[in-house]
Amino acid sequence: MSGTISTFGRSLSHKQRALTVSSPRLFDKSVSSPRFSRKSEVSRLFCVLIALGSAVSFFLAIGGGYLYVLPNLTKASHEEDVGLSFNGSDSFCDIFDGKWVVDNSYPLYNASECPFVEKGFNCLANGRTNDDYLKWRWKPRNCEIPRFDVHNLLEILRNKRIVFVGDSMSRTQWESLICLLMTGVQDKGSVYEVNGNKITKVIRFLGVRFSSFNFTVEFYRSVFLVQHNWSSKYGIKRVRSTLKLDKLDDISNEWINADVLIFNSGQWWVPGKLFGVGCYFQLNNTLKLGMSIPTAFRTALETWASWIDTKINPNRTRVFFRTFEPSHWSNLTLRLCNVTNQPLSETKGQESNTFSDAALEVARGMKVPVTVLRITPMSAFRKDSHVGIWSDNPSLSDCSHWCLPGVPDLWNEMVFSYLHRSYRHMPLHQQREFNSMD
Ligand SMILES: *[C@@H]1O[C@H](CO)[C@@H](O)[C@H](O)[C@H]1NC(C)=O
Ligand SMILES: *[C@@H]1O[C@H](CO)[C@@H](O)[C@H](O)[C@H]1NC(C)=O
Ligand SMILES: *[C@@H]1O[C@H](CO)[C@@H](O)[C@H](O)[C@H]1NC(C)=O
Ligand SMILES: *[C@@H]1O[C@H](CO)[C@@H](O)[C@H](O)[C@H]1NC(C)=O
Ligand SMILES: *[C@@H]1O[C@H](CO)[C@@H](O)[C@H](O)[C@H]1NC(C)=O
Ligand SMILES: *[C@@H]1O[C@H](CO)[C@@H](O)[C@H](O)[C@H]1NC(C)=O
Ligand SMILES: *[C@@H]1O[C@H](CO)[C@@H](O)[C@H](O)[C@H]1NC(C)=O
Ligand SMILES: *[C@@H]1O[C@H](CO)[C@@H](O)[C@H](O)[C@H]1NC(C)=O
Repeated sequence: MSGTISTFGRSLSHKQRALTVSSPRLFDKSVSSPRFSRKSEVSRLFCVLIALGSAVSFFLAIGGGYLYVLPNLTKASHEEDVGLSFNGSDSFCDIFDGKWVVDNSYPLYNASECPFVEKGFNCLANGRTNDDYLKWRWKPRNCEIPRFDVHNLLEILRNKRIVFVGDSMSRTQWESLICLLMTGVQDKGSVYEVNGNKITKVIRFLGVRFSSFNFTVEFYRSVFLVQHNWSSKYGIKRVRSTLKLDKLDDISNEWINADVLIFNSGQWWVPGKLFGVGCYFQLNNTLKLGMSIPTAFRTALETWASWIDTKINPNRTRVFFRTFEPSHWSNLTLRLCNVTNQPLSETKGQESNTFSDAALEVARGMKVPVTVLRITPMSAFRKDSHVGIWSDNPSLSDCSHWCLPGVPDLWNEMVFSYLHRSYRHMPLHQQREFNSMD
């Protein structure tokens, strides 16, 4: 492993610092050589476009078809400069298929100047000296993620409610989002937690209000998304609690009237956090002692999906589900974690994950459109971006959580690219109607 790292380190001295990833396997069902066929398709398309272009200018020159052609062309070029369709994946661009490139305009904020980064994630303040990990930007293969424009985003989010639901990875993304947005706010005191609460690891609700822009960014801790109950009613000693796979978490009512809803789950679906502490699955009031974790996760996601389909108004709420965040333990049992100075040059199989696949499959069958943020492959490279020993507990190294600034900022930039897209072409009066809808 160290061989790979040092080879990569050497190659870094050259200009071309780039790491690539191809689409997650699920989307690569295509024929033998997808990249080549795509390329030739593109060049064929290009020829057609050139031919069309000359035809169009010919028509323009003779004055015919002017009104007909122009609006379409304007639309087309708009699509291109964003390079995204709403689902993030079309023939032109899949924002999750790309590479990490060095960009010295990063990071986008200083964690020490943002009161909403919890101490454990501020790696520089906790003694990390190498800061190369801060200088990476995600570059999709066929397009760009729109440049971070905080003032535009603050306006897009005005009067809205952004809600994160999930585990500590969601909390990190929540912190990242707040810090990104605070760089555009002059009066930092106008941004505050609504109950005056401090960020802790087990708090169930945190809500930060941007009072000058009348929006809140909220976090609900719900590590399994479904209901957890302490119980001894089964009379089986090892069963101390159950997860009701067919019931969404009892705080779920709080999530309904959000404008943007971003979910995650996965990190707690491990034997040590379930069976190891006496937590077993329950379905339709029946204990399911033999059910495997992947099956249970899938069942919980289906419960989540039908909840979304019945409770969420897609005219009001944009729904996202973030796929599994890879960790980079050298040995998880021994809690060995070696954070590198540079990203890995290959994902070592971590680009796919059964939890991520389950999310993609479940989302595909839903009535309400859900954008799956396929961040698993891109994050799999970033062994350099974990908190390691630079957390609030240096005696335990941590190869699961991420430093801030860092990788979660890029997850948010992906969310922003969708929000730009979905709120951009909408005239202002329509946006208001959209927002006041219940
Ligand atoms: C995204 O939308 C395009 C059409 O706009 C469609 O062809 C493509 O299959 C969609 N991709 C996903 C992942 O849903
Ligand atoms: C971040 O802000 C702190 C406190 O203002 C400052 O000491 C530090 O130098 C800044 N770090 C960077 C990388 O700019
Ligand atoms: C603030 O936003 C809420 C919707 O979240 C809206 O009902 C309210 O009218 C807004 N207030 C102002 C002063 O714009
Ligand atoms: C299960 O726990 C939830 C809170 O998580 C509670 O509202 C509910 O009443 C509990 N159900 C039972 C049967 O104990
Ligand atoms: C749930 O349990 C009840 C009673 O045990 C049974 O009648 C029903 O068919 C079960 N539902 C499902 C979906 O298994
Ligand atoms: C969403 O908007 C469409 C078009 O305006 C409308 O037909 C539909 O009933 C709305 N759906 C809901 C759930 O309000
Ligand atoms: C981790 O360490 C344990 C205990 O020494 C060992 O049994 C196990 O094989 C190691 N796992 C890996 C993946 O190296
Ligand atoms: C991790 O780093 C320690 C020293 O910090 C070193 O002894 C060990 O060999 C490294 N392990 C790996 C897998 O690189």
